[in-house]
Amino acid sequence: MRRAVSADGNSIVVNDVGPRDGLQNQSKILAPEDRVRLVRALLEAGLAHVEVGAFVSPAAVPAMAGADEVLRGLRGVADATLTVLIPNTRGYDLAVAAGARSVCMVLYGSDGMAQSNVGMSREQAEAAAAEILARACGDGVRVTTTVAVAFECPFDGPVDPPIVRDIVAQFLDRGAHEVCIADTIGAADPARVRALTQDLVDAHGSERLGCHFHDTRAMGLANVFAAVESGIRRFDTSIGGLGGCPFAPGASGNVATEDVVMMLGQMGFETGIDLGRLMQASDLAGELTGTAPGGRAGPWLRRQLTASDAAT
Ligand code: COA
Ligand code: ZN
Repeated sequence: MRRAVSADGNSIVVNDVGPRDGLQNQSKILAPEDRVRLVRALLEAGLAHVEVGAFVSPAAVPAMAGADEVLRGLRGVADATLTVLIPNTRGYDLAVAAGARSVCMVLYGSDGMAQSNVGMSREQAEAAAAEILARACGDGVRVTTTVAVAFECPFDGPVDPPIVRDIVAQFLDRGAHEVCIADTIGAADPARVRALTQDLVDAHGSERLGCHFHDTRAMGLANVFAAVESGIRRFDTSIGGLGGCPFAPGASGNVATEDVVMMLGQMGFETGIDLGRLMQASDLAGELTGTAPGGRAGPWLRRQLTASDAAT
């Protein structure tokens, strides 16, 4: 049974996006039943939020085909928020028809990324998200809007913070359950993260704000820390550090769930996640994909777990 963890002062919500962000970029395509196994391993570890797939064009992202089968394989999971990514209204329709109760719609800090990812302008993606959000309110579906390339775009360069601040304000006003700031290519640094997240928390409070970091330049954990210092209490992470976007050149894995959970636990925050079981999920991610880099603290964490097994 997962312990309920709310995004308040001492508790931090960790949303594992490995089964989506992690698997979408792997050369090996996993069958829906293996993706279900990975999600179940994460739930076993105590994760209460998992991004389990994407309703995108199978021609654009073959690894996400069969998201409906993944949802079917997870039917009956009642005490966790299982989210699917959607790029457009067609994705929303397919997701809801497949039984999704939580969706993540992508917004963009730049036009270049919006074009590369979904063939829309930034404003077109915002208009689609506004329409989806209005429908989702009526359908009782939870919506996260994630602002991709919130710090830097691989095509258009650095993103001006006022652009991101405006998108966040607009979608919080429209009633998004969460607005997540994503460093899609892992270009942010702790000073920029601290400045932007502090402005956002000052303006809106932290309850509905989240962050999503990639570890391309080894600043993923430092960026999580900077955001925690600003008061952010929701983070996307990826088991085994899997991740990357096929449409964002240079993007590498997300910050690893095991590293973030270890750091937050050591700092005294509650995540509700069992590190021993999380390492089993990380092992499974490695076994299934053959390419999971694993968390930076993986060898150390494994030694601790072996030592505590030997002592019991
Ligand atoms: N899921 C599945 N199929 C979809 C779809 C969706 N969300 N949206 C559109 N399609 C289908 C259309 O119905 C159409 O099918 P048809 O050829 O049988 O008529 C086909 O895809 C092409 O539609 P079109 O509107 O011309 O889209 P496109 O080819 O320009 O592709 C997207 C646009 C958004 C579908 C595609 O770029 C995409 O899926 N991108 C997702 C990128 C992604 O996942 N990035 C990583 C996560 S941020
Ligand atoms: Zn990402």
